Amino acid sequence: MPSFKSGMQAQGWPQDVGIIALEIYFPSQYVEQHELEEFDAVSQGKYTIGLGQTRMGFCSDREDINSLCLTVLSRLMERTGIGYENIGRLEVGTETIIDKSKSVKTVLMQLFEDSGNTDVEGIDTTNACYGGTAALINAVNWVESSSWDGRYAVVVAGDIAVYAKGAARPTGGAGAVALLIGPHAPLVLERGLRSSHMCHAYDFYKPDLSSEYPTVDGKLSIQCYLSALDSCYATYCRKSDVTKSASASSMSLEVLDAMLFHSPYCKLVQKSLARLALNDFLRASPDSVSTKYPGLEAFREKRLEDTYFDRDVEKAFMANSMPTFEAKTKPSLLVATQVGNMYTPSLYGSLAGLISSHTVSSLAGKKIGLFSYGSGLAATMFSIKVSTDTSPGMPLAKLVTSMANLRDRLESRVKVNPQAFAQIMQLREDTHHKAPYVPVGDVSILFPGTWYLTGVDDKHRRQYERLPLLPSSNAHPGTSQILNKEAPVPSLAIGAATI
Ligand code: HMG
Repeated sequence: MPSFKSGMQAQGWPQDVGIIALEIYFPSQYVEQHELEEFDAVSQGKYTIGLGQTRMGFCSDREDINSLCLTVLSRLMERTGIGYENIGRLEVGTETIIDKSKSVKTVLMQLFEDSGNTDVEGIDTTNACYGGTAALINAVNWVESSSWDGRYAVVVAGDIAVYAKGAARPTGGAGAVALLIGPHAPLVLERGLRSSHMCHAYDFYKPDLSSEYPTVDGKLSIQCYLSALDSCYATYCRKSDVTKSASASSMSLEVLDAMLFHSPYCKLVQKSLARLALNDFLRASPDSVSTKYPGLEAFREKRLEDTYFDRDVEKAFMANSMPTFEAKTKPSLLVATQVGNMYTPSLYGSLAGLISSHTVSSLAGKKIGLFSYGSGLAATMFSIKVSTDTSPGMPLAKLVTSMANLRDRLESRVKVNPQAFAQIMQLREDTHHKAPYVPVGDVSILFPGTWYLTGVDDKHRRQYERLPLLPSSNAHPGTSQILNKEAPVPSLAIGAATI
């Protein structure tokens, strides 16, 4: 491993801190949204066109938040070949709470046991879908701080997003991401360009600790999301303009090569991009309005806070921003439309989708805007500058290669019919927090290398095992190097045997 510490001592400040590698995990089974429309007896097109969703990934009773995070972290470590002893901080972001005290991070520490490394800072962070971004900020801040000991940080974000029967159910999903954080990263978090908006709202929350389901005020949640977006963008633009020289163009969507969003459903993302175009329009100088926004002059007097559900404004700016959406946002929606809302990993699933749509040279040097939102509410906008080093074997090339098979991985999932999906949801509902409990879900459909729950004992202690990594597998072709290593398959006994 490179001696970052010595580099820091020489230069006084770690350079280009950001995301070095990214791993994404989603469930191996999905339900088709158009079949769900029929099953739920809603009008055809409501989920697919109205919400913009194609498929929804979901977990049986074999997977929980611990298993999702064990899987994604194992895969990140195997893919990158970085030993667990080289991790000095591990942060977990999740809102899938199965224990009010014991963190997911401590469960993940079992993967560190063989390395003997227990000197690992960080713990779980929770606020709806925002926990992953809070974890990322913590990890980056650690590397940039006087506490940094020269090792890597890892961020794991995972969730199982399930809703009770009804309007919100098609906006579920599940998955996890793991991000390797350090200096000299191919995806650098731009310093000084971070804006947040945090306030109190009851738009989506989970007050019933015995249920996996949230309490949701759908309409309020959309208003909260869009108002947080407006606020974050205004502050981001202000900070961005302050750092620019007088001759440089001021902040607008034109400055960004890509704009990614937390994606509860894809239609809201498209509306959000249109919302940023509306913000640009209202900030634009009077003389540029007629050339850049022909036909929209009548909206010049609108106030943002009056337009959350203004159909005329929405329609006009959706149309105006369509080319920008197609070029700068749509490529990032692959995972969001195919898997659904993954909650904390959602934004980073969009990053994975964006990377998978690029070659190394087409991604190099790009500036990416990101908007993270978690109900309740907490939101942050920040930006990433992509490295320009396109050399083979360098981190950017490795990152792009690692995401090249994302579409194939999504296609390799197993389709489940809505009836069976509803039964599995019912099983999760009936057995949530049951102890003792032996899960019944089919293990054979899980991807190779997936950690799964084998049992919960009468003291609520959970045991997991891992499916073997097949020597040659199409499920995760990008990991063939690792799969060929025939890594040993550990079996974790979480509970009496180890604690
Ligand atoms: P709903 O009541 O079914 O919505 O709930 P609707 O009747 O308004 O229909 C949705 C859209 O489909 C509408 O389009 C309809 O016109 C259209 P819009 O008016 O919005 O442009 N539609 C059709 N289109 C084509 N063909 C048809 C058709 N029928 C209707 N036949 C809602 C929708 C999103 C509210 C619900 O699913 C829900 O409550 N979801 C959960 C909450 C959520 O996702 N909120 C998003 C923002 S909050 C957030 O992102 C945080 C979150 O991730 C949680 C966290 O932070 O942890 C959720």
